[in-house]
Amino acid sequence: MSIVAVTPQSIKKASEAIQQGKLVAIPTETVYGLACNALDENAVARVFEAKGRPAINPLIVHVSSVAHAQSLGYFNETANELIKHFWPGPLTVIVPKHEGSKLPDMCTAGLPTVAIRFPENEVARKIIQGAGVPVAAPSANKSGSISPTSPRHVYDSLGSAVDMILAGGSCKQGLESTVIDMTSDTPVILRYGVLTKQVIEEALEVEVVDGVNQQSTVTSPGQLLKHYAPTIPIRLNAVDVEEGEALLAFGGIKFMGIKSGGAAAELPEDQIRNLSETADLNEAARNLFSHMRDLDNPKFKGIAVMNIPSEGVGVAINDRLARAAAA
Ligand code: TXA
Ligand code: MG
Repeated sequence: MSIVAVTPQSIKKASEAIQQGKLVAIPTETVYGLACNALDENAVARVFEAKGRPAINPLIVHVSSVAHAQSLGYFNETANELIKHFWPGPLTVIVPKHEGSKLPDMCTAGLPTVAIRFPENEVARKIIQGAGVPVAAPSANKSGSISPTSPRHVYDSLGSAVDMILAGGSCKQGLESTVIDMTSDTPVILRYGVLTKQVIEEALEVEVVDGVNQQSTVTSPGQLLKHYAPTIPIRLNAVDVEEGEALLAFGGIKFMGIKSGGAAAELPEDQIRNLSETADLNEAARNLFSHMRDLDNPKFKGIAVMNIPSEGVGVAINDRLARAAAA
């Protein structure tokens, strides 16, 4: 296993490693991905194994051009409109799988559809382009645990199960891409992300259906599974800190007290993380997974999380926290 800094040489090496069937952790603007050649069934099998991922949970296939995406799936008019606005970027679309795609069933978990994303991150784009193949990449963490937003997180979660880690710094956005089902003319959100329902509706001038917690609409297999779980309990909407708890704060904390006495601001440094002191939701999204990891220490009884407004990116942040708390 090698951890390498980003250089033109290491980017080339990463592309070659993917072509050779290796597993390469790559930075994207959302989270780090565990990348492999999506056409190579053995490599895809190793990704499932490294993550401990159930075979029913399909992978996202990453491309570096719209034309490449269109060779893997069928895009209707609305889908084309959607990607015209938001690709490259933190958007994954689910479309019917193209008959000529050659993607192994394992990659799409036997579904007639495929999830496709064209990431914005330059390192990711260059690696995918250099590899010249569709690149399957789930988040580079153990299935069910907290997604990685830095190369260190990848190493801590997967260790030597990865052949190469491209150390491209911390991720710009920090939450996984928004997943939209585009198998019909009506877009259905299957996973919330930094790209919100409102922004999509405004750009496309069509109604977008929220299918995230709707069992009746098309479901995304992965959303039904255990997710984002730290090893200690999470307590949401906390208005104070219980004895032995760590605090995941948002905004000012001068009114937060410790139940047994004292102010939260006086907690030891390792017992408190603030997602954003200025209550900036984008900053909070960027910090969420790394702060959760920092506080995920068995010496604490649990993590008390302050209320985060469910507006804009806050919807996606609260979705991840709710899943973490339920796990
Ligand atoms: O931001 C991201 O999307 C990151 C980076 C690396 O691109 N990737 C990522 O992949 O989050 P993963 O595997 O952790 O999440 C993929 C999600 C899962 O919930 C999966 O069930 C869903 O996409 N998915 C994949 N293919 C699908 C399909 N054909 N139909 C419905 N949902 C699908
Ligand atoms: Mg994941």
